[in-house]
Amino acid sequence: NLKSPMVVVSNRLPFVLKRNENGELQRKQSAGGLVTAVAPVVIQCGGLWVGWPGIHMDDPHQSVPESDPGDMGPSAGLKSEQVVPVHVEEQLFDDYYNGCCNATFWPLFHSMPDRAVFVADMWEVRMEFGLVRSAACLILSAFDCSMLGLGLAIVNMSLPRGQSYSTVNVMFAYQTVDALKKMKMKNQEGEERIPLVWIHDYHLMLAANYIRQECEEQNLQCKLGFFLHIPFPPWDIFRLFPWDNEVLQGILGNDLVGFHIEDYCRNFLDCCQRRLGCRVDRVHNLVDVAGRTVKVRALPIGIPYKRFEEMANAAPRALQSSQQIVLGVDRLDYTKGLVNRIRSFERFLEKHPEYLGKVALLQVAVPSRTDVKEYQQLKEQMDLEIGRINGRFSTLNWSPIRYIYGCISQDELAAYYRDSSVALVTPLRDGMNLVAKEYVACQVDKPGVLILSPFAGAGETMHEALLVNPYELDDVADTLHRALTMPIDEREMRMYHLKKREQTMNVDFWLTSFLKVSIKTFPGHNVIG
Ligand code: UDP
Ligand code: G6P
Repeated sequence: NLKSPMVVVSNRLPFVLKRNENGELQRKQSAGGLVTAVAPVVIQCGGLWVGWPGIHMDDPHQSVPESDPGDMGPSAGLKSEQVVPVHVEEQLFDDYYNGCCNATFWPLFHSMPDRAVFVADMWEVRMEFGLVRSAACLILSAFDCSMLGLGLAIVNMSLPRGQSYSTVNVMFAYQTVDALKKMKMKNQEGEERIPLVWIHDYHLMLAANYIRQECEEQNLQCKLGFFLHIPFPPWDIFRLFPWDNEVLQGILGNDLVGFHIEDYCRNFLDCCQRRLGCRVDRVHNLVDVAGRTVKVRALPIGIPYKRFEEMANAAPRALQSSQQIVLGVDRLDYTKGLVNRIRSFERFLEKHPEYLGKVALLQVAVPSRTDVKEYQQLKEQMDLEIGRINGRFSTLNWSPIRYIYGCISQDELAAYYRDSSVALVTPLRDGMNLVAKEYVACQVDKPGVLILSPFAGAGETMHEALLVNPYELDDVADTLHRALTMPIDEREMRMYHLKKREQTMNVDFWLTSFLKVSIKTFPGHNVIG
């Protein structure tokens, strides 16, 4: 029961806006764990959610619609006045989202620097905060005055493309502070309530300092928390980013910084110490910066376990097939190891021809970031490889790989999970991986087997899964054989322990843990030495 109001700041709002056939805006629910966990708390404490609405609106004054009456999703109760949409002009958003976020930070933070694009034109923060702020304010005020055309002209004239990341971060910060100003800072008993501003993920790593500075100028108080949903890379990788200093300073603008696992915390502390020369307390995970102490914590995210279990119990049979199904569910992303996975499946069929016609790999690949070159190339590569393997092994009645390029609702996914013999979760690198956890929650019948990469955050705790290195194709093939021939008592024993852990370390546990640490965090406090 949160006493202080919470302001969640994330790149995406907990829903996306779409136009219906009459051209009216409608909310379309997002299904992620963040929304399921955090939206009820924001609703309950009368908080706010600041984010990009998922559509470029010609008239930014048009208010965000209320949810449809039949909407049963977790953010349905979020009233229109609790939503703060950040409107970002299309070209600017493209540079920030497709460029800085997904062509630079995403590959770098997943330790794939060869895929990362380092272009000063796309990312720079050398400009004075005041200047960036003025530019961002001009854009926002142009929106306010319905002078969008003028706003865009100003962006084009005065902002080199280089400032897209910092500019969008300032825009988010500015909207957040604007919203904070309108918030009631006292409860019914007249007690002061310091709001918690909770910033999410790699899109907004500079926002905290901008919010902090703006709040100081306006005499507003708030606590700043940040959670990174992707890995934080080791120092040797992180230092490749030409503006590593600014990113670290940006994250340290928060009072509390959360990562999924201890390894990511350690990497972050190393970077603070080695790049910035900060004093670091490794026993208590604290960093000293500019007279403040920042708390760093490993807080692994979980899933809404009960909801998945219920969905799995309720869903009708999904896979009408006499064949055994090996399941993969991922966004179509090169970090997920999809090409290695289907090649491992090919190795498995070569080594074990007795399974021809009896087992199929069902791969769900959700289209993702389709404007980014690396993602387009992966799509082509997948189409080619799947075509090649299916061409090689298919018979009149059977194909080895069933491939769905699209998004499946979670109700339906629950049935896929339940009815598959094996889940193949083999990312090359992944912050956590919720699919592994959802698979476990849905094993309500005779349990299947989870095969998991140790390079996913989930691999740190899900010890009873069969852990396998996704780069070793032969090993994956052998592990798949082991999973398909595993006796029922071993499957039950492994699944029992996996389920028990996920049931406890669920998404509510994650949320509560973050809030508990934040309650004991005092902004501006210096506790090291
Ligand atoms: N998901 C979905 N429909 C699909 C495929 C995936 O709703 O067709 C959901 C899935 O249930 C999970 C999320 O997408 O909650 C994927 O999260 P994960 O942590 O595995 O990977 P991410 O996409 O965040 O990298
Ligand atoms: C990962 C990131 C999220 C992001 C999601 C989907 O889970 O950590 O921040 O929202 O992928 O990616 P998208 O680019 O479509 O938002």
